[in-house]
Amino acid sequence: MKLLTFLLLLALVTPCFAMIRIPLQKKTPSGLLMDFAGLNKHRHIAGPYHLVEQANGVPVVINDFSNAQYFGPVSVGTPAQTFNVIFDTGSSNLWVPSKTCGSNCGLHPEYDSSASSTYVKNGTVFRIQYGSGPVAGFLSEDTVTFGGMAVKGQTFAEINDVSGLGLGYALGKFDGILGMAFDSISEYGIPTVFDSLMAQGLVQQPVFAFYLSAADGTQGELTLGGYDPAHFQGELTWVPLTSETYWETSLTGMTLGGQSVTNTTKCVLDTGTSILAGPSAEVAALAALVGATPFPLRPSEYTIDCSKVPSLPTLSISIGGVEFTLAGDEYTLNVQGMCLFGFTGIDIPAPRGPLYILGDVFIRKYYTVFDTTGRLGFAPVATTKKAKHHQRR
Ligand SMILES: *[C@@H]1O[C@H](CO)[C@@H](O)[C@H](O)[C@H]1NC(C)=O
Ligand SMILES: *[C@@H]1O[C@H](CO)[C@@H](O)[C@H](O)[C@H]1NC(C)=O
Repeated sequence: MKLLTFLLLLALVTPCFAMIRIPLQKKTPSGLLMDFAGLNKHRHIAGPYHLVEQANGVPVVINDFSNAQYFGPVSVGTPAQTFNVIFDTGSSNLWVPSKTCGSNCGLHPEYDSSASSTYVKNGTVFRIQYGSGPVAGFLSEDTVTFGGMAVKGQTFAEINDVSGLGLGYALGKFDGILGMAFDSISEYGIPTVFDSLMAQGLVQQPVFAFYLSAADGTQGELTLGGYDPAHFQGELTWVPLTSETYWETSLTGMTLGGQSVTNTTKCVLDTGTSILAGPSAEVAALAALVGATPFPLRPSEYTIDCSKVPSLPTLSISIGGVEFTLAGDEYTLNVQGMCLFGFTGIDIPAPRGPLYILGDVFIRKYYTVFDTTGRLGFAPVATTKKAKHHQRR
């Protein structure tokens, strides 16, 4: 097991097969690192669901906090017990805090199976190991309401040991995680909630799409069963998946100011990771190219002088042979006046890696459609009303 810094990315290697979990980041409780807390928070998707059906799918409102955390509500049981969960395309299980967690789960709401008429006992032990400890509990089955659609008989984990999440969880805004990667990496082979939605005929199309809110505070949206062209410009560019585990596709190149900066051939689209992550040697070289310096206590993370940001060269990421560009102010993050390079080093062992994780830094600029038939669609997000107004002036 290996702790990967910054987002508490973890590569868990079991004797049978290599597995990488990218579910949560570490929040540091004090000191200078606290300045990075906004980034170190896992993404959360917030806000009430829109219960309105749309031709192109069911929208779920996503709110953004400091460009780094997003969460949204999911209900479990009858009557509904509601939890704020991270919609994470980098994992495949649903878990929420259990009544049996008691005060260990802080102020988070706790699922009480005895209060649900649709609860079915399972009881199998569930455990995920994070770098700082376990997240553990047991399996249960109940109705899960997601985007206003009730999935019957969904198996999920009731968590009563959150020690692996540290203090960040006690103080954090998200209660649980709803994994949106493939069943092939789901613990215990439990079907994902989205697979259950499809199996129960609740979505029109086997796709979902993320529109992440921009820095100007516009609301983001996760669309289930379709995608919403109002959120992007032009046509979607489709690229085939190279593996149906994580949302993996081929990385056909990456250049900075025209100079090639990678030999890595795979990337995964991960809404559960705030930034971009890649092999540490390549990221170190990239950082040196832009004049970013390693953060003393966490050398795989980099800061950059904010005054350099406007003159940074364009980053071009080629996915499935199609070029996607990010400008300097798009691949860096300004957190309370401190500028962070939007890349961190992580070394994922073969056969899964090496690979790049394209997190929110990428998805904020490119609306991303996750099509379970085996492809990803991308298009630049639509400029917001606010931005258009600003341009006119
Ligand atoms: C519990 O759930 C797992 C995963 O879906 C399943 O394999 C197992 O048979 C279930 N056990 C019981 C007792 O329902
Ligand atoms: C890619 O591989 C070639 C050949 O081994 C090497 O010369 C080059 O430096 C590598 N590029 C990067 C960005 O690592």
